[in-house]
Formats: sequence, C-alpha cells, structure tokens
Amino acid sequence: MLFNAFLATLNPGDEVIIPAPYWVSYPDMVRLGQGEPVIIEGAPERGYKITPEQLEAAITPKTKWFLFNSPSNPTGAGYSRTELKALTDVLMKHPHVWIMSDDMYEHLAYDGFEFCTPAEVEPALYERTLTCNGVSKAYAMTGWRIGYAGGPEHLIAAMRKIQSQSTTNPCSISQWAAVEALNGPQEFLGEWVEVFKRRRNLVVEALNAVEGITCPTPEGAFYVYPTINGLLGKTSAGGRKIDTDEDFATALLEETGVAVVFGAAFGLSPAFRISYATSDEALTEACKRIAAFCGALR
Ligand SMILES: Cc1ncc(COP(=O)(O)O)c(C=O)c1O
Repeated sequence: MLFNAFLATLNPGDEVIIPAPYWVSYPDMVRLGQGEPVIIEGAPERGYKITPEQLEAAITPKTKWFLFNSPSNPTGAGYSRTELKALTDVLMKHPHVWIMSDDMYEHLAYDGFEFCTPAEVEPALYERTLTCNGVSKAYAMTGWRIGYAGGPEHLIAAMRKIQSQSTTNPCSISQWAAVEALNGPQEFLGEWVEVFKRRRNLVVEALNAVEGITCPTPEGAFYVYPTINGLLGKTSAGGRKIDTDEDFATALLEETGVAVVFGAAFGLSPAFRISYATSDEALTEACKRIAAFCGALR
C-alpha cells in the first residue's frame, strides 16, 4: 500500500525523507518507485527520535514525501503530541512536501503514552497527508494481508489504479475478516497491551543488566532496540570476532540459537532488534543466553 503511493507519485530522483532506524522495507520501496531515500538518524540518547532541525535540514526542493512511523518498527519509539507538533511546524513551512504516516502500531502503546498522528496534530496538513494502517499487528492478522489508507481523493484514486492493475484487490475473505476485527469488540486490546508492557519491561531490564548493552525503554510497538557499542572489538567464546552488529547477531544465533536482527538492516548501528511478541518464557531464556554470550566475550 505504501509502495502503491510511491509508485503513484514519485518521479525519478524525487526524494523521500526517512528517519532511521526505519522499517527495512521503506528505502527499497522508495528505490523501486525510482525515488531517492534520504535518511536522517534518530540518536539513541533521544530515544531514536529525530529533531525538527534535522527534518528542516533534510528538506530540499526535490523532497516529495516525509515518511513518519510512530510507534516505530524497529525501535518502539513514539512521538508525543508536542514532539510531533514540532515536526509538523517544520512541514507547514514546506507546502511541496507530502506526509506519509504509517500508524501500524497505533494501539500498542504503554505507560499512558498517547498515540497521535500528523493530520490530527496539525489539521492544516490533512490535504497532503496519507495515513496508513493495517490489521497485522494489533489484531495479530499478519497473514491476512490487509492494510488501509486515508488521504486526498486524487491520491487514493491513483493508488487504486495501481492496485487494480497489479493484484486487483486482497481476497474478499481477508477483507471481511478485517471488517470484523475493526468493528468487533476491542476490549482484548487493553489486556494485550498489559501483556506486551510486561514483556517489554522484562526484556529492557534483562538487557540493561548486561555490560556493553544499553537498551532504551520504548513507548510502543513490540520491539526493543539496544545498542552494543560496548561489545564491539571483542571475540566470542566460539572464536568469532565481533566487529559489527551483523557479526554480533550471527555469532549469537550460531552459538546460542537466539535470533535477533542486526541494526545495519534498519539503518542504525551498532545495535540489534528484539521482537518481544513471544512468550515470557522464551524471552526470559533468550535474555539469559544473550547475557551468557556477552559475559563470555573477551
Ligand atoms: C512499520 C510497519 N509498517 C508496515 C508493516 C507491514 O505490515 P503488513 O504488510 O503485514 O500489513 C510492518 C510490518 O512489519 C511494519 O512494521
């Protein structure tokens, strides 16, 4: 769906601003649409969030889109209303820039974090904002392949044209399942959020107890994104040199059986991502193995 929007709007060389760490697919979607990804890095010490100054500096006459994702995959970082308003204030000064908001993790937010989205925080951006969502995360319906978007009629019409000449539409069974998910009882979400929050806390606490790992506490989604600056240059018990986060993830997998995704895949290193959308038992065991692996580095 996001890709349809890029295909419908990008001319060769058009720029798309993407905050890093980003969901892995964003830059490639832009490239496939013949655009140029322009990456700005959200620093770990700011919870991986970009500043208005960074956004301002990245905007050029060729900027077509600013791609926003909060809470984020891979960091779980969520922008407060005030933080987002600071970004929309910048966007107000640049009327040629369109905003794509990927609200996939809207319902997964913790500790009273209030989800907000650009067109809501700054209604004057409404006419140039595409707001995207889906049932994959909050309803655990990843395999059903349903996403949806709201935006200006002419943009949606162009996206629909691309869709109708490619896959035509998602299967009708999935569409009806999504209608049920969205219109049905939502009470379970409160319970899920409590469970996710417990798992987030479990993982953040366990990882921060490991020397060499620093793990910020994210506002939402079901990921944590710890940095591993303190581990680089060491050698694992199995004799592997850890020079990059990819080396770390590979050695961890091969020596302990724990799968994490290395930070370079998301555009910010040295770090790794853990998805805590699994059982407390699996997470506890994984963190125990990560601690033992890191403790044995020399
Ligand atoms: C931020 C974000 N956007 C979009 C998606 C796409 O979800 P799907 O293709 O399952 O609808 C994902 C999935 O990981 C995601 O993390």
